[in-house]
Amino acid sequence: MALDLDFVRSQFPALAGEWAFMDNAGGSQTLARVAERVSDYLLTSNVQTGASYAPSLKSTERVREARKAYAHYMNADPSEIVMGASTTALLRYLSEAMVGRLQPGDEIIVTNVDHEANIGPWLKHEARGVVVKFWRCNPETFELELDGLKSLISERTKLVCVTHASNILGTINPIPEIAEIVHAAGAELCVDGVAYAPHRALDMQTLGADYYVFSSYKVFGPHFAVMWGRKDKLRELDNIYHFFFSKDSVPHKLEPGNINYECAYGAIGAVDYVEELGRKAGAGEGRAAIEAGFADIAEQERAITARLMDFLESRNSVRIIGRRSSAIEDRVATVSFTVEDRGSKAVVEAVDPAKVGIRHGHFYAYRLIDDLGLMDRNGVVRVSMVHYNTLEEVDRLIAALEPSL
Ligand SMILES: Cc1ncc(COP(=O)(O)O)c(C=O)c1O
Repeated sequence: MALDLDFVRSQFPALAGEWAFMDNAGGSQTLARVAERVSDYLLTSNVQTGASYAPSLKSTERVREARKAYAHYMNADPSEIVMGASTTALLRYLSEAMVGRLQPGDEIIVTNVDHEANIGPWLKHEARGVVVKFWRCNPETFELELDGLKSLISERTKLVCVTHASNILGTINPIPEIAEIVHAAGAELCVDGVAYAPHRALDMQTLGADYYVFSSYKVFGPHFAVMWGRKDKLRELDNIYHFFFSKDSVPHKLEPGNINYECAYGAIGAVDYVEELGRKAGAGEGRAAIEAGFADIAEQERAITARLMDFLESRNSVRIIGRRSSAIEDRVATVSFTVEDRGSKAVVEAVDPAKVGIRHGHFYAYRLIDDLGLMDRNGVVRVSMVHYNTLEEVDRLIAALEPSL
């Protein structure tokens, strides 16, 4: 069933303005219901959690409700949900919590496609004798080939870190297949879900990852992030909080300092929203509603991506940096490209007056842009859409791009 775009857009007050927002992989617009929840938390329940007096019971319950909502969203158990300020911070915590398990000579595999958030924290282990290997994409096809992973993995590999979708290429990586290779070698899999989570339903029961992280501010919520980890794996991690937390104190030993309660509570609004989309599509409650909501989201994204890609493919001056497919299983609605004889900065600045927000650069996937030799072109032009973008907005973007291509 097609998305009710009038309903969708009415849920995001910022969309009533004159700008078309197509830098969503940098941060999406926020749902009114999220902002209302943040405000309600602060104005009616902002006391420290964990005490016995009634207002504290209320704040405790609200944070518990948040953990339950993300568990439901990811098809997981609330005790497996670690909350934090950002994906970058959570991956640093995860890396720190692995210190006790990694010995000199152990190996970690990272990719050159990932955002630095899922590379830098792992490279820090090199100082302790851990070997970090790079799984590089094919520079012609931009694919992370599974044979490449197979040739790197060994009996010393403890961890493989890979992004679910690239925030530049838009490519969806085959996580279940990657997980099979990783687990056959006895290693664990850490997946960065930031660039995937706004676009498709998350299901930790079928994906095959051991750790999975995403940022709520890119999924229509506030600046906040969530990490899921398999319960037995989380238990094995070091305690990175105060000394008096035990190893069994999961997930709290991985949440040093107070988490942001108002954002935790606010982000429930995004779960609620996707479920409402699912119910509107005729699904029942719960997981079925989340999956149906995302099925409609994916279809809308496919339509707007196809419109943009068809235009870009029709221009000889354009090189798409990523898969040349807009199929739902191949990519999310993030499309990057370069233009012959023009720097990416100039292309983007020519679009600004049309009030369409796009962007150029390396987007912290620095190593990918560097390896592809695109730094001196000011990186790529990136158009990152979500389901609230419309075909009319894409046409406005195309009209604004046309003179540059
Ligand atoms: C793929 C990817 N991973 C990680 C991050 C970092 O997220 P955060 O800002 O929550 O640390 C980003 C942010 O752009 C991203 O696109």
